[in-house]
Amino acid sequence: MSIDYAEKIPNNVDLAHDRTLQRALEHWQPHFLEWWHEMGPSDFEKADVYLRTATSVDAKGWASYGAVKMPDYRWGIFLADQQPGRTIGFGDQMGQAVWQQVPGEHRSTLRRLIVTQGDTEPASVEQQRLLGHLCPSLYDLRNLFQINVEEGRHLWAMVYLLHAYFGRDGREEAEELLERHSGDADKPRILTTFNEPISDWLSLYCFTYFTDRDGKYQLKSLAESAFDPLSRTCRFMLTEEAHHMFVGETGIGRVVKRTLEVMKELGTDEPAKIRARGAVDLPLLQKYLNFWCSSSLDLFGSEISSNAAASFANGLKGRPDEAQYEDHVLRDVTLKLDTPEGEQDVPMLNALNEVMRESYLKDCEIGLKRWNRAIERAGHDFRLTLPSSRFRRSIGSWVGLPVDPRGKLLPKEEYLRRLHEWVPSPEDRTFVRSLMQRVIEPGKMAGWIAPPDRGINNLPVDYEYVHLA
Ligand SMILES: [Fe+2]
Ligand SMILES: [Fe+2]
Repeated sequence: MSIDYAEKIPNNVDLAHDRTLQRALEHWQPHFLEWWHEMGPSDFEKADVYLRTATSVDAKGWASYGAVKMPDYRWGIFLADQQPGRTIGFGDQMGQAVWQQVPGEHRSTLRRLIVTQGDTEPASVEQQRLLGHLCPSLYDLRNLFQINVEEGRHLWAMVYLLHAYFGRDGREEAEELLERHSGDADKPRILTTFNEPISDWLSLYCFTYFTDRDGKYQLKSLAESAFDPLSRTCRFMLTEEAHHMFVGETGIGRVVKRTLEVMKELGTDEPAKIRARGAVDLPLLQKYLNFWCSSSLDLFGSEISSNAAASFANGLKGRPDEAQYEDHVLRDVTLKLDTPEGEQDVPMLNALNEVMRESYLKDCEIGLKRWNRAIERAGHDFRLTLPSSRFRRSIGSWVGLPVDPRGKLLPKEEYLRRLHEWVPSPEDRTFVRSLMQRVIEPGKMAGWIAPPDRGINNLPVDYEYVHLA
């Protein structure tokens, strides 16, 4: 079904034929816009931004590009096409038909999964709302806004499910998604990472690299769900998500590139000299990677989890790319887990958070390989690494333990003394913040980051991607 843009809420779910649902969502719409106006990038509401808007869910051509003022963005409800005859791909009901409605016994778990995912979407917009003032280029400014409007649409995606399938509880949850706010003392967002401030662009690139990638893994596992509307929603969200991670990977890559240029120019790898020259030294970048990677690893939950086991066995949430595995039931297998008490054999079903975390980390390695190749080619020994998944955990069996980024248990006082060798210190953050000088001349870049290899949608890098009012 194609998307009807004449509707108040663009959609491909035939909203016009469900008046009750349509009215409920049209009632929520002004609340969403109010939220955007108050908590989104509100200082840029008059700017013309070169944005893509979803116009179909066809993989070949799903978006159209053009100048849009963000409050006029057409946030809508788009589900990937239904796959005829789709059956449940894992768990105890494997092979049975997928569900078009929510089974009563799974109602509260599914609602919690959807609310938790939905909560992250507006949270990230809130976290990023002031970054526009410090943009390193118009190209980057446009990418930030593209991500922001799409996270807004991801909120719509989850709110649609809540309204359409969860009755009054769902409508109440949809309101609360606009009432919790990132970092709020009384009503914070649900997950810790989404309450961390993002006040500089180095953090934004790390966030989009690590945290949006967590999003990818969550969406992939929900795309496997037996609850078909959830699966279809997530499949289309993944199409948009790819760009967010692209911004992270190329953003960090451009920082590395610029730093290497400065190192060559100055003939040194001394951090103080590189900083004096207005670039990010590689050890500093490593601290930012450590911070955001370890924070994002918590999003996968405890290594040993009976919730994860139940969600899988019941068909609610699979593994990312479930089809790549051989065993989809997992009743007779175990996994060896490293815990502070030593190695433990854990039923595989209970270890699924860890399975997901491991495949996520593998995906994270891809960017590091690319950045390290650039560093190696420039003739330097320094290598960027991912921190151990035991480092800085605030959930699971390694919670609160004094472990260094290589995974080694240290005496508590040594850990505390050395923590800022591994994650940004207040001085590091102040320095990075000092680099954030706004650059808004088309084609110009801030001095701490190299230009991108190419522009958006085949336009040149010096295109005026944002026309500021
Ligand atoms: Fe998202
Ligand atoms: Fe995202």
